[in-house]
This record gives sequence, structure tokens and C-alpha cells, in this order.
Amino acid sequence: LFNKKNISYELDQDNIPGHIAFIMDGNGRWAKKRKMPRTYGHHEGTKTIRKIALEANRLGVKAMTVYAFSTENFKRDINEVNYIFKLPKEFFDLYLKELIENNVQLRYIGHLEMAPKETRDIIEKAISQTSQNTGLILTFAFIYGGRDEIVETTKELCQQCLDGKISVDNINEDYFEKHLMTTDLPPVDLMIRTSGEYRLSNFMLWQLAYAEFVFTDIHWPAFDETELHRCIAIYQGRERRFGGVLK
Ligand code: FPP
Repeated sequence: LFNKKNISYELDQDNIPGHIAFIMDGNGRWAKKRKMPRTYGHHEGTKTIRKIALEANRLGVKAMTVYAFSTENFKRDINEVNYIFKLPKEFFDLYLKELIENNVQLRYIGHLEMAPKETRDIIEKAISQTSQNTGLILTFAFIYGGRDEIVETTKELCQQCLDGKISVDNINEDYFEKHLMTTDLPPVDLMIRTSGEYRLSNFMLWQLAYAEFVFTDIHWPAFDETELHRCIAIYQGRERRFGGVLK
């Protein structure tokens, strides 16, 4: 068995992904392996968010988006859903100060209005307290679905047309993209899904059109700096053509 701690990856500082999106999978399985309740996996998973955000920030990544709760996650047991809704408070109580010290800006995408008021308040407070920060933009996809986001944007642009603010011909990819929940975030360069599942699960469908995908078997609570470096090294080994041909 190799000792992961002894392995380091040589990263090209000029080719750090600008925006990394994470599907944080495997919290439940990680906990089960330890004979602990699924919620313990989510609890430990929040520590990984902090660890990886600080490291991404240190590496010069501009944006990091994490899939914290999907529109489909409401199908889960009510106790688990309620527990996840309590995590933002736990997360910000523990780490907001440190994130501010590290110049991290917080945002969310999704239907925060569907969350309990305490959860909403705590997230909105963190967002307003960090809005002037210029380091990593850490976005929580919370009550988020990729198809839903596209439908919401479509509705907004239809309304703009009906109100006479724009005409149908004003709608193009750039205009549409600016009206997605991610608005001005840089394009996603790298999508990492943990825990050995090879699906998008309705995450950032528009934004991932040209992202590189890296899948790892590691469960989210066990994902660490070394594993992040390994994923970035894989990304750096890929040849990106964006539909063109290699020059
Ligand atoms: C998937 O694991 C993970 C989630 C559903 C997200 C849980 C949320 C967090 C880690 C953090 C939220 C934090 C904040 C601050 C909003 P899973 O339960 O699907 O694992 P499994 O596939 O092993 O069952």
C-alpha cells in the first residue's frame, strides 16, 4: 500500500483551472463504512469544503462551486434534509472568519428562498459580509438543479421580451449565459466528482459544456489537498480544443 502523503504532483502554475466545480459525492457511504450515520458524513464533508476552498484559493483558482443540495435531494429522508439545512450555520460559525481572512467571497446559486429562514439568513449574511472580497469565489449550489436554472433563465428572458425590454433577436448565447444564476463567474474548466459515480446528476448543465471531467473513487469527506493536486495534474495533461483542431 502506498502512502499518499509522500506523493506530490508537479503543477503548472500557468495552467491552473480558473473555475472548478465539485459534485461532492459519497458522504453517506464514507460514514457507513465507519458504522456512523449518513449525517456524520455530511458533517465531515463540510470540513472538506473548507480545506479545499483554502487550497484552491492558495493555488490561484478564481472560482469553486460545490453541489451542496440538489432540487432532487428533497426526496431524501426528512431528517437528513433537515440536517443538511443546518450545515450552513455550522459551516459559517466555524469557518466564516477564516474565509474572510483569506479574502474568499461567498455566493450561492439555486432556490435559497425554499430553505428555512434561519438557513437563508445565515447564508445571506455570509454573502453580504464577503461581497467585497477579491480572492476565490466559493459558490454553494443549494436547492439547485441545472435544468431548473435553464428554465428559470428562459422565463426571465421571455418576460423581458413581453415587457418590451429586449426583442427575440437580442437573445444569443452570451446574453443567455449572463442571465444564468452563475452570471459573471468564469467558465468552468474542471468538474470533479468524487466517490466513483460517472454522472452529472443535473449539475451546471450549461456551464459544463466544455469543462474537463475528472472522476475519483475517493469519498468527499476523504478528499484532500493531495487529491485536488492529482485531479488538477490530470486536467493539465488534457488537450482542450473547444471544438477546434489542434494547432
Ligand atoms: C452527497 O453525498 C453529498 C451531498 C448530498 C451534499 C451534502 C452537503 C454537504 C457536504 C455540505 C453542505 C454544506 C453547506 C455549508 C451548505 P451522498 O449523501 O449522496 O453520499 P452517498 O452517495 O454515499 O449516499
